[in-house]
Amino acid sequence: PLTADLFGLTELAEQLQRLLGISQVVVVQGDADHSAWVKEELGRVGARLLKQYIHEDDIVAVTGGTSVASVAHHLTPAPSFRGVQFVPARGGLGERVELQANTLASAMAAKTGSSYRLLHVPDRLRPDALQTLMDEPQVQDVLALLQHTRLVIHGIGDALAMAKRRNYTEAELAELKAAGAVSEAFGYYFNAAGETVHRMPTIGLQLEDVKQAETVLSIAGGESKAKAILSFAKQSCQNVLITDEGAARAILSSN
Ligand code: G3H
Repeated sequence: PLTADLFGLTELAEQLQRLLGISQVVVVQGDADHSAWVKEELGRVGARLLKQYIHEDDIVAVTGGTSVASVAHHLTPAPSFRGVQFVPARGGLGERVELQANTLASAMAAKTGSSYRLLHVPDRLRPDALQTLMDEPQVQDVLALLQHTRLVIHGIGDALAMAKRRNYTEAELAELKAAGAVSEAFGYYFNAAGETVHRMPTIGLQLEDVKQAETVLSIAGGESKAKAILSFAKQSCQNVLITDEGAARAILSSN
């Protein structure tokens, strides 16, 4: 706490709490856009808070991305992870395998000595193929489990940065831009007002399910994500936001 106060981070966190209406905000020093150690720090704090909020036998929905990967990296066993199941929040979203929700769910389970489930849904399936997969008993099982999600841990991305990372075509990028997409989470793209402007065709946790979860932990840092963090906060579903000084200062100076 002493270090946090020294850099004014507690004050920044309190201002963000009020502005975004999120009950707990933690701001780490630095900017994840510029230094890799800041993402490590986001992950370290994320792991600590996940440990604080987890209950035995919880179903935890996990998204992909580098920020959640950093949380997985920093997790360690604790008695409260007994009976916990880590479940990927959504099927394939076009991420590299190291950053996919499936990979991170299994990594978190391995780190904490708990269990995981996988959602085998390839990227960019046609609607009829998606429907066929959804009817598979194995997939049904995981979808049923997701409906009992108590805790969600997820990243927030800048909409266009995420679409590029997921190899959208120039035409698709232009469409997203024209629709005013600002943020991305769970394969949903939102505009500045928080309205859904595009959804990736996959299955898994729905936005309504996220809103039903008891604890939603968001983890996103870097000045480049300021607008995205503001946009996603419009969902009013987050209990905890772990961010960095770069994002925090940019959000507060734009408001
Ligand atoms: O959905 C958002 C992304 O998963 C965020 O990814 O943590 O690598 O920026 P990132």
